[in-house]
Amino acid sequence: MERRELLKSLFAFVPLGVSFAGISFMGLSFLSPSDRGNVERKIFATDLEDIPLNETKRFKDLQGKDLLLIRTGEKEVKALSTVCTHLGCTVYWQKEKSQFYCPCHQGIFDPDGNVLSGPPPKPLNTYKVEVDGNNVYIYSKDKEA
Ligand code: FES
Repeated sequence: MERRELLKSLFAFVPLGVSFAGISFMGLSFLSPSDRGNVERKIFATDLEDIPLNETKRFKDLQGKDLLLIRTGEKEVKALSTVCTHLGCTVYWQKEKSQFYCPCHQGIFDPDGNVLSGPPPKPLNTYKVEVDGNNVYIYSKDKEA
C-alpha cells in the first residue's frame, strides 16, 4: 500500500516536470535563436559619388567577408563576393575589360558574376544592393553566432 501511494505521488509531479522542461526549452531558444546568422540586414556601404563609373570599391559584409561594389551605371551598383567559386582565390576587377579575373586559374566573370571562361563551376556570390539618393546599401547576413 505504501508503494502505491509513493508511485501516485511521483506521477502527480510528472505534468509539472514536463511543463518545466517546455518552459526551459522556450527560454533557451529565446536566448540562443536558431536563425542567428541568417538574419539579413540592410547596411550602409558607401556614398554613390565615391565610386566612379566602371570602378570598384572594397567593402566587408557583416560576417567580415570581402566584397566589391562596382558602379555599372549612373544609379546602378552591384556587389559581388571576391571569392572565386573554383578554389577560393581572390578575384580582381579589370576595368579595361569590364570583367572579374581570377589569377589562380584564369577564371573570368562578367559584371554580374556569371562565368565567362575558366574552371569556376558557378557564378560569384552576389549581394542585394539598394541605391537611395547618394547612399548605397547592401543586404548582408548577420554575424555568425
Ligand atoms: Fe579561381 Fe581557380 S581559384 S579559377
